[in-house]
Amino acid sequence: MINFDEKTNRFNVNSLKWDVNSNELPMWVADMDFRSPVEVEEALIKRVNQGCYGYNIIPDSWKDSIINWWNKRHNFKMEKDWLMFSTGVVPSISSIVRKLTSPAEKVVLLTPVYNIFFNSIYNNGRYIYECPLKYENYEYQIDFDMLEEALSDPQTSMLIFCNPHNPIGKIWSFEELKKIGELCYKYNVLVVSDEIHCDITRPNLEYIPFQSVSKECRENSIVCISPTKTFNIAGLQSSAISVVNPLIRHKVYRGINTDEIAEPNSFAITAVEAAYKCEYWVDELREYIYENRRIFKEYLEKELPMIHLIEGDATYLLWVDIKNITNDSKEFCNFLRKETGLYITPGDEYGKSGRGFVRINIATQRENIYDALTRLKNGINKFLNK
Ligand SMILES: Cc1ncc(COP(=O)(O)O)c(C=O)c1O
Repeated sequence: MINFDEKTNRFNVNSLKWDVNSNELPMWVADMDFRSPVEVEEALIKRVNQGCYGYNIIPDSWKDSIINWWNKRHNFKMEKDWLMFSTGVVPSISSIVRKLTSPAEKVVLLTPVYNIFFNSIYNNGRYIYECPLKYENYEYQIDFDMLEEALSDPQTSMLIFCNPHNPIGKIWSFEELKKIGELCYKYNVLVVSDEIHCDITRPNLEYIPFQSVSKECRENSIVCISPTKTFNIAGLQSSAISVVNPLIRHKVYRGINTDEIAEPNSFAITAVEAAYKCEYWVDELREYIYENRRIFKEYLEKELPMIHLIEGDATYLLWVDIKNITNDSKEFCNFLRKETGLYITPGDEYGKSGRGFVRINIATQRENIYDALTRLKNGINKFLNK
């Protein structure tokens, strides 16, 4: 049994998440407070001890480790030719936007969605076409009429899609993926499917790889994957891009090489290959995270019925409806941080439809979960009585 309760000290190591005051509890950016598998640690130490850190190649064994993982965990056989290394999902997406769309074209997002997608579009001089998900009875669905309208706009050339979806934690169904694939194919809109959260799902529930669904999905997509969320190795900067269609693949290849994001540092390959041998670790991690989610849900239902946790089957991110308290998520999060030290993310960072929501990262020790719940309750009481 892995001891995920073990406290880790993340102060004084330049952690983005933990660069906070000592009384603060950060539960915002998506990295975990757990130690990576011991196998990853040992492989890295061995590599460090080798003592030379020059330029690196991408060995075939890196592709094998990814192919084996997808085959075993996600029941999907990828081919070696499809895969390219890159230094991260965000750098890949930005590069793909630059190479496969033109300035002033429109890129569709199903919102609320991972905030950095907006930057990848906007910073490259393309338009964001926000297509809000339908929200009814605390559940989200794709509004396919609205999506079709967005895709049929002659200026639209790309959809950036999140599967499973950050921040709402939804695993998209086979039918939904198929329909997206068909619509995008029909309107010649290229799909970029970000599948970085695919391994952290409710125990015994798996996501569906976009490229496994249909010919349309396979031939008209670029899929970004990475073990960095799963094994808490985001700082090692490593991801893979899978492209089945050789013409699109060549363009992506040219893009990531022009942008100089196609070469690994001295630790990326070592860590990824070691991590993808640790299936048992992910199984235990999922149990731990979903127990955190259960505890959170139960507490909110009992102690804070005015806020509502959206049911989710993926990611370690909770998406919480706080509209009964306020629509101003920013003001609420600032107040909460100032008054209680609990640092979470306002929902409007993920698009206009995220107003009135907050995102909470629960990939942390159980002790912190209980601490966060107490802080949240105190913060809400103070906020309501201010
Ligand atoms: C959906 C999604 N994509 C990409 C990233 C970041 O990927 P990378 O660190 O590989 O750039 C995150 C991190 O939170 C994410 O949630």
